[in-house]
Amino acid sequence: MDVPTEATPGDGGRGLGRRPVLRAALAAGVALPVALMGVPALARTVGEAGGAPEPTPRCDDGDDPTPPQMEGPYFKPNSPRRTAMPDGPGTRLTVSGYVFGLACQPLAGVLLDFWQADANGVYDNTGFRFRGHQFTDARGAFTLSTIVPGLYPGRTRHLHVKVQAPGRPVLTTQLYFPNEPRNNTDALFDPRLLMTVQDSGTSRTAAFDFVLAVPGTGPTTTTTSRPGGGTWAAGVDYAAGARVTHGGAAYACRQAHRAQVGWEPPNAPALWSAA
Ligand SMILES: [Fe+2]
Repeated sequence: MDVPTEATPGDGGRGLGRRPVLRAALAAGVALPVALMGVPALARTVGEAGGAPEPTPRCDDGDDPTPPQMEGPYFKPNSPRRTAMPDGPGTRLTVSGYVFGLACQPLAGVLLDFWQADANGVYDNTGFRFRGHQFTDARGAFTLSTIVPGLYPGRTRHLHVKVQAPGRPVLTTQLYFPNEPRNNTDALFDPRLLMTVQDSGTSRTAAFDFVLAVPGTGPTTTTTSRPGGGTWAAGVDYAAGARVTHGGAAYACRQAHRAQVGWEPPNAPALWSAA
């Protein structure tokens, strides 16, 4: 078993901002409207007061960059480039989100290097199991397919990640799971780094958006729907269970939402599953 040397308080600046209130509530298990549970991506992108959704992914805390956390003892450079880490048994976990700059502009080509423990709470320090890097696409989006990391002594459940926009400093941080008992006792835990997680019973779908200290002038994506073909369309209100086709594949709606550019299946696994 790995020695839990990460369990050393090392993250300064834990003050809560605006959006973290929601995340803190999730961490504490406070009852929230169903519409907000597990779907921060929706909470982030739906317009104010129930109005029309924003045409592009929107970040609401662009003045509040994602806080750093300690690297810990288990990082290894030169991880393989991959978005899926089918490296062992465990509960499947899909993590998706966007990387924004300070002006909420989506950042393309951002390096995300993930590493985590296996289902037994053990890191692979000789090979690259559960280690991999990828780059955000033109919309600033990323998706990682992995498993839920196991617990090990001294820490709550977490993922490690390094995030670096081209030519910019590296952000090293960790991501956390809501409703974990150890969140209350892990000195490193920071509610600003909570993912929102949907648990289907056999797998989990998580969302987290990073904000990097990259200046910008505003969103750069457009409202033009990208090619893909099929029946899916932006602006349509889909009910849970609705079926669409996109890019030659069929999908079922997992939760009611109004479709937006960027939420096409399979790019939004919290919203669409293969049918
Ligand atoms: Fe760790």
